[in-house]
Amino acid sequence: MGRLSAPPCTLHITWKELLLTASLLIFWNTPTTAQVTIEAQPTKVSEGKDVLLLVHNLPQNPTGYIWYKGQIMDLHHHITSYVVDTEIIVFGPAYSGRETVYSNASLLIQNVTQKDTGSYTIQIIQRGDTTKGDFPFPLTTSPVISSLYGPDVPRIFPSLIDYRSGENLYLSCFAYSNPPAEYTWTINGKFLQSGPRLYIPKITTKHSGLYRCSARNSATGSERSTLETIRVSGKWIPASLAVGL
Ligand SMILES: *[C@@H]1O[C@H](CO)[C@@H](O)[C@H](O)[C@H]1NC(C)=O
Ligand SMILES: *[C@@H]1O[C@H](CO)[C@@H](O)[C@H](O)[C@H]1NC(C)=O
Repeated sequence: MGRLSAPPCTLHITWKELLLTASLLIFWNTPTTAQVTIEAQPTKVSEGKDVLLLVHNLPQNPTGYIWYKGQIMDLHHHITSYVVDTEIIVFGPAYSGRETVYSNASLLIQNVTQKDTGSYTIQIIQRGDTTKGDFPFPLTTSPVISSLYGPDVPRIFPSLIDYRSGENLYLSCFAYSNPPAEYTWTINGKFLQSGPRLYIPKITTKHSGLYRCSARNSATGSERSTLETIRVSGKWIPASLAVGL
């Protein structure tokens, strides 16, 4: 594929035209000396913190940068762009209000939320000569940014409170968390076991009490817990049998 011919007024090309040109030339291959890379600082970021996507080996004399969310290069995923000559910043539909593009192409994402999890792609527009026009560099995608969050307040399933002697107690606990939470169970404040599920076969009245499920996120260091009262009544005698007693 050859270079698309550009009008002689290349230097006055509008950013809109540039975007269009970029999307037309996605398969354009330029001889690269050093590969453009993106370094995420950090790759795992707690909710509310910032992440900086540093662009290394920026080609010399770029015209502009276009940042996309994910690896899909369409207008819908366009976050922001920077036009070098005019220092104009353009915002796209994927702009959340928390992204800042710098003149060196780096992208700062502030107050990271769960929705920011994923990778980011930059399209660098390289300045061409007046006859051939500007042309886009191959795309560069960042490492996956992972937003650490949670745990939320865990929920215990089922929410059933009353049990009868001889029944099986099967409880499970879940809290939204990234990375997944580590769970521990206590009854009346005493450690019972770890893991999201609690199974006690053939319970008796002595299993009555306050059950607590604690969810802990080792990365964020936070822990939340939920209590559930379990009442175990004496042996159940079916009414029909009780009548005969
Ligand atoms: C780009 O600019 C930002 C903000 O000034 C800075 O923090 C970052 O280190 C720069 N990136 C590179 C690769 O130099
Ligand atoms: C980030 O969050 C803080 C505290 O909620 C807020 O003051 C600040 O304006 C936010 N910054 C951006 C860029 O959204």
